[in-house]
Amino acid sequence: MSIATQPRTAAAHPTAATSTYHHHLGTSVHLLPQTDQLRALHTVIRDRDARREDFVFYAGRIIRLLTEAALNLLPFEPYDVTTPVGRTYQGLRFAENLVGVPIVRAGESMEAELRAVVPGIRIGKILIQRDKTTKQPRLYYTAFPEDIATRQVLLLDPMLATGGTALAAIEVLRDLGVPEEHIVFVNFITCPEGIAAVGERYPGVRIVTSAIEEGLNENAYMMPGIGDFGDRYFGTD
Ligand code: PRP
Ligand code: URA
Ligand code: MG
Repeated sequence: MSIATQPRTAAAHPTAATSTYHHHLGTSVHLLPQTDQLRALHTVIRDRDARREDFVFYAGRIIRLLTEAALNLLPFEPYDVTTPVGRTYQGLRFAENLVGVPIVRAGESMEAELRAVVPGIRIGKILIQRDKTTKQPRLYYTAFPEDIATRQVLLLDPMLATGGTALAAIEVLRDLGVPEEHIVFVNFITCPEGIAAVGERYPGVRIVTSAIEEGLNENAYMMPGIGDFGDRYFGTD
């Protein structure tokens, strides 16, 4: 196919970067291709005896893949440039401004990879912690660019377990006027309970993830899971 005839309307939907599952509640879940390489990366970090530097390094490798897959879901618009030999390249660029919103604390592990691929991206913050006993989320702090309602939001949290934290964060964004369809939840691992919780309330929110676990244990940790991501990543375990 010549460059002139190549389609350039980028899709705000599945690409080769992910497989898409339409959960019965309507959420679209974009799962990274389950390659041997991805499984090998997961093998390092799921090992309870993993050294911290390996956990951080290999988690970062997967987060980079997730970030790239999430960017593929955003809308693009035509943008032509002239090449050094004087021809027109019929290109694309992001159609709307972006903002990354990590859910502090564990979501901050994903911020550096997003900054590495989108230089100068604006970053909002939502600080939510699960109560250690009740597992219910508590919202402590938020900070956003004032035009967030017009932006495509990459909401970052590596863990989607019961879904309580994600729902609380999405509610904050919705209250600020962000449409569900403008939110891509970038997530490391999830489980059917978390997908169902988000899909039931916010079917327009897309979820990008690298693994769907079997379910939750009695302490609301995912199984087989990874343990407490924040504690392992930041060294507070
Ligand atoms: C973890 C994780 C998610 C949340 C997921 O955060 O980072 O934010 O739990 O669980 P849920 O889907 O059942 O709400 P945690 O409160 O442990 O704080 P942390 O980010 O400091 O680790
Ligand atoms: N938070 C984590 O860090 N891990 C889980 O399995 C669930 C919530
Ligand atoms: Mg958290």
